[in-house]
Amino acid sequence: MKLKNVKVKLKGAVAQVLIDRPKKLNALNRETISELHQVFADLDADSEVRAIVLRGSGPKAFVAGADIAEFASFSTKEGKKLAAVGQEELFDFVEQLSTPVIAAINGYALGGGLELAMACHIRVASHNARLGLPEVSLGLIPGYGGTQRLPQLIGKGRAMELIFTAGMIEAERAQEYGLVNHVTALEDLDAYCLKMAERIAKNAPTAIAHAIKAINAGLRSSDAGYKAEIEHFGKCFGTDDFKEGTQAFLEKRKPDFPGR
Ligand code: CAA
Repeated sequence: MKLKNVKVKLKGAVAQVLIDRPKKLNALNRETISELHQVFADLDADSEVRAIVLRGSGPKAFVAGADIAEFASFSTKEGKKLAAVGQEELFDFVEQLSTPVIAAINGYALGGGLELAMACHIRVASHNARLGLPEVSLGLIPGYGGTQRLPQLIGKGRAMELIFTAGMIEAERAQEYGLVNHVTALEDLDAYCLKMAERIAKNAPTAIAHAIKAINAGLRSSDAGYKAEIEHFGKCFGTDDFKEGTQAFLEKRKPDFPGR
């Protein structure tokens, strides 16, 4: 597969994966999700690669979410499929990878961007990072596992507040909440993550793969929540609130939600 929106660099046993759509703040369109799937599958199959670091290109964003322009005209059925395919192809896929993935959050990690960071095994943020799930400001809910992984990481009360307010939190608050493990200066982020990845790479890859599977098995004894998320995400696409929310974003204005 020829890669357009994703770049890969190998540094010894560590692979650095870059999401490279900076003009759209690395928003996840279909093409980027497919490319990321392919890249992660190839790296996981390569026994020389012992750890992966994922970041967004440019100084401004890790990933600003799913690509709103791409799904703004979707029906309920298409919305449901978007979440189901995305979860399977990228978010659950990364979570279940045998190779550990560190998200290097170098700026905005919003919506699908924070969901991707949460699907990674470890998160490190730079001071300029801003994290949140702003989907309800578009008339949507998080559809790539965010309603499940955010409460797992920061607890139900904080997760509900962050989701309902569509708010963004700064890196230091995210660390206090346990959403990111460490915070660094932007210029130190790559070196910090590389060093951690190299430390991980010295340990037994088979044992780490088994640890990932065991930890995930405990946290995903049922997929009911993920399935419910797909259903409710799809239902949002049939609402006037969704049409108003996405149109307002594309027209760069504030939404005026009609409600139920
Ligand atoms: N989808 C598509 N395009 C996006 C995008 C997204 N999620 N985020 C940013 N962009 C585009 C903007 O439209 C803009 O494009 P143009 O230059 O062609 O107009 C470009 O990226 C730069 O963005 P801004 O001009 O808006 O930059 P800013 O500095 O003024 O604001 C921001 C930055 C606060 C992150 C703002 O871009 C923003 O709010 N983005 C959307 C965040 C969001 O709502 N994410 C959730 C998406 S829904 C989702 O992810 C669903 C799911 O769970 C599956």
